[in-house]
Amino acid sequence: MQGWIVPPPKEPTKTKEQFERERERKVRWLIKHGYLRSERIKNAMLKVRREDFLPPHYRDYAYLEVPFPLPGERASISCPHSYPLFYEPLGLDEGHRFLEVGLGSGYGTALAFEIVGKGGVVVSIEIDPLTFDYAKKNLDVAGYKDIVLVNGDGGLGYPELSPYDRICITAACTEIPPPLLEQLKVGGRLITPVTERGSQYLVLHEKHEASFARQVLCEVLYVSLKGKYGGSDKPAL
Ligand SMILES: C[S@@+](CC[C@H](N)C(=O)[O-])C[C@H]1O[C@@H](n2cnc3c(N)ncnc32)[C@H](O)[C@@H]1O
Repeated sequence: MQGWIVPPPKEPTKTKEQFERERERKVRWLIKHGYLRSERIKNAMLKVRREDFLPPHYRDYAYLEVPFPLPGERASISCPHSYPLFYEPLGLDEGHRFLEVGLGSGYGTALAFEIVGKGGVVVSIEIDPLTFDYAKKNLDVAGYKDIVLVNGDGGLGYPELSPYDRICITAACTEIPPPLLEQLKVGGRLITPVTERGSQYLVLHEKHEASFARQVLCEVLYVSLKGKYGGSDKPAL
């Protein structure tokens, strides 16, 4: 499993044009390396300015494959490749009702909003109040007003707007929170890092009438889920 070195904080110096070139280069890199395939996810990644979701002292590093710390306890913005890594197998698409657990910086939420479009719904839950305020401000400043943002335990889901077509948990679970499985539509998909015997895997679940199909995709490294369903050693599903 790979680790990361966070580069030193510095005053931001890059221009809008420099960031735009870096964003285009990153999208080409993600396509070349097989992370990015669908047109809607590609267009979202070209549109959303990742630099707007990083703390100012890390802004110039926005397109590095490094997760950066955020305000709050053990909160981070994930590496750029993480988003297509989750959203492509999830099959996130136009019109979907989408629930995200772990708002973080708000970047993944903004991408999801662009992908599902005006006919879809995006709900995102963040447990840490400092991280929540940070993300809410980022999304407001970037002009994303029509996203349902909730400060609370995402393991409980958000039944008010369920059932969801797609659910993404951006922190590692040992057990898939049962409320999230309940709030998923039949035929819907849920993706999450799962901790098993000390390693973490990205796992895709598809809900059938009376069962769940489970597919292990790759090894990953994420912060652990907090709240009611966090930190247990029970096996997933
Ligand atoms: C890897 S970060 C998310 C990165 C985010 N997708 C982004 O684009 O910046 C994981 C986040 O999950 C949050 N988290 C952990 N447990 C949670 C829970 N039970 N409910 C909601 N958020 C939770 C953490 O506080 C952290 O902000």
